[in-house]
Amino acid sequence: MIELKNISKTFRGKNPAKSLVPGVHAVRNVNLSIKEGDIFGVIGFSGAGKSTLVRCINLLERPDEGEVIVNGEDLMKLSGNELRLARKKIGMVFQHFNLFRSRTVAGNIAFPIKHDWQPDGSASGRTLRQAVEERVTELLDMVGLVDKTNAYPSQLSGGQKQRVGIARALASNPSILLCDEATSALDPQTAQSILALLKELNRKLGITIVIITHEMRVIKSICGHAAVMESGKIVEQGSVFDIFSNPEKQITRDFIATTSHLNKINDLLAEDTPLIRLGSNQVLARFSYSGPNTVDALISTASLYFNVKLNIIFGDLDIIQEKPIGGLIVILEGEKDAMEQTIEWFRGKGVLVEVLKHG
Ligand SMILES: Nc1ncnc2c1ncn2[C@@H]1O[C@H](COP(=O)(O)OP(=O)(O)O)[C@@H](O)[C@H]1O
Ligand SMILES: [Mg+2]
Repeated sequence: MIELKNISKTFRGKNPAKSLVPGVHAVRNVNLSIKEGDIFGVIGFSGAGKSTLVRCINLLERPDEGEVIVNGEDLMKLSGNELRLARKKIGMVFQHFNLFRSRTVAGNIAFPIKHDWQPDGSASGRTLRQAVEERVTELLDMVGLVDKTNAYPSQLSGGQKQRVGIARALASNPSILLCDEATSALDPQTAQSILALLKELNRKLGITIVIITHEMRVIKSICGHAAVMESGKIVEQGSVFDIFSNPEKQITRDFIATTSHLNKINDLLAEDTPLIRLGSNQVLARFSYSGPNTVDALISTASLYFNVKLNIIFGDLDIIQEKPIGGLIVILEGEKDAMEQTIEWFRGKGVLVEVLKHG
């Protein structure tokens, strides 16, 4: 469990009293609660304060004020040594992997293990070398990279480098994994495989994952809960399904729009393509829906009930947290009253209907 209470962080110059430059308020009054075992996403544009916020969770950045409660302790109140121990329970993964170029894969992962190793004291006690080897193999197995044990980072693809980064972050058996744009330097397919790996680790190890990203598809594909950050503040947060099915803020809607094809209709309208040129007995509408009432079933029912033709131009359906969410762009054709009744009927079924254009 991670709880941030009233966290603020301002960056000031070296000598703030003399500086003419005002400080940068990177994080402002943030309150956030992340449940154990969740995959929690923080999304925002570049400069929103996401990296600063995530670095506050392990006190790589010390907030100016507030509480950082991790596993029941306020990290702000710990001594240097206590903080060092608490940090071992928090792993971190970076956008550019941050591997030692002069060490092999095994050497990169062994580094934090060697640092923490203590002999177990028994006569049959394992040597440092054995303990490290075993653990490195175990970690590489977890990330599916055993065959690269002796390779150097320059011999790995981006996705493989990130697997090493993840294995290294897991070396000390952390209960929390912080990922700062962990897939942003990767092509979409590789990014997806890293996200799948994170999801699997979350499920197998029960590790809580915090993901910082500027890409809504990352949030959509693996997060349970998410927060939207803008100018240092959290402007919206909740379960990912709720955020997608009922976004409150314009910035959230804009992020969601990047993951859906439905907004292509706005371009088509602007271009006035023949596809959507309407006759006087037609209207163009967007049907959006979430949850059990998928529109396709309703469309066939409506065409039986009402004397209206429903012509689907295109649609977009997604499954978020195992529930369908999506929409259709439809041309309705019929008498004005019949079309109005049809639209009201859909609204009554919980479908959001927006009339985009009348014929
Ligand atoms: N060490 C620092 N010193 C001064 N300003 C910083 C520092 N780190 C971040 N900032 C500033 O804080 C703001 C938030 O940055 P950051 O947390 O990196 O945002 P994001 O990760 O969302 O792109 C930016 O304006 C950035 O320039
Ligand atoms: Mg950042």
